[in-house]
Amino acid sequence: MHYSPPFSFTARHLPVSDMSNPTPATPYGTLPAASPLPARKPVSLPRLAELRDRGEKITMLTAYDATFAAVADAAGVECILVGDSLGMVCQGLASTAGVTLETMAYHVESVARGLRRVQGTAWLLGDLPFGSYHESKEQAMRSAAQLVHAGAHMIKLEGGGWTAEVVRFLVERGIPVCAHLGLTPQTVHALGGYRVQGRDDTAALTLKRHALELQDAGATMLVLEMVPAALATEITQQLPRCHTIGIGAGKGTAGQVLVMHDMLGINLGKNPKFVRNFMDGASSVREAMAAYVAAVKNGSFPDDSLHAW
Ligand code: KIV
Repeated sequence: MHYSPPFSFTARHLPVSDMSNPTPATPYGTLPAASPLPARKPVSLPRLAELRDRGEKITMLTAYDATFAAVADAAGVECILVGDSLGMVCQGLASTAGVTLETMAYHVESVARGLRRVQGTAWLLGDLPFGSYHESKEQAMRSAAQLVHAGAHMIKLEGGGWTAEVVRFLVERGIPVCAHLGLTPQTVHALGGYRVQGRDDTAALTLKRHALELQDAGATMLVLEMVPAALATEITQQLPRCHTIGIGAGKGTAGQVLVMHDMLGINLGKNPKFVRNFMDGASSVREAMAAYVAAVKNGSFPDDSLHAW
């Protein structure tokens, strides 16, 4: 697959073989002490707002360890999410509900260390796991602080309504927050399975209300998972200060996220409809990730006729 992105590509997007000054070979995937790549401006909240203002889509991928995070950063991914999906892809759990805060902190720390080793510049998000923010705002603050201490720039939490108060509390205390609406995997059992959310008028209205409340509370990103494309586009237009990041929510969001294992085709089962396997036609993980970045930026992924509802 070959994409011709409309934005300016720098050498960091080129295959390793095209780089001058190659780093010496190292065993066990050892990361070089310093990146051989030209530096991009560190990704920050103002930088993400700039991307959105000029109509450039924001790219996000999950990563759970130092090496994959460094490769994603080198491929040009702007945001790296240490998602609690690690419970399913790394720990073999049946859902994300069993992931603990200690496990999240361990993986955030590994990813942050990997990014530091290569002078990575990606924006790093850490997921607050189930049970770590549900009791009180104070509990949420303690949990968020643990992920910030581990190296996260932003924390993510799931749900709408009751979470607005928690988000406000964290934002007022200097912690950037990404919210998550639609299919919220931590409560998959209450939702009756991995189903599209917001399909009927009442559910769509509730979703829109929750999204506005979260922006008002200070959330600066919002993952919209398995939401009809038209609804996700409407929510995006209503949220100028909060960047929507879609997964199974069509191409109208401000950015896209996929679980790394899904987009690399590391799946013995069937990938969900909203996933494209970017290893098809790629000769390395880095190339697959760069193809994902290019496809999101040039609007060829997601394709609403294939990947959305
Ligand atoms: O945990 C995770 O990886 C996520 C993404 C699916 C957005 O929440």
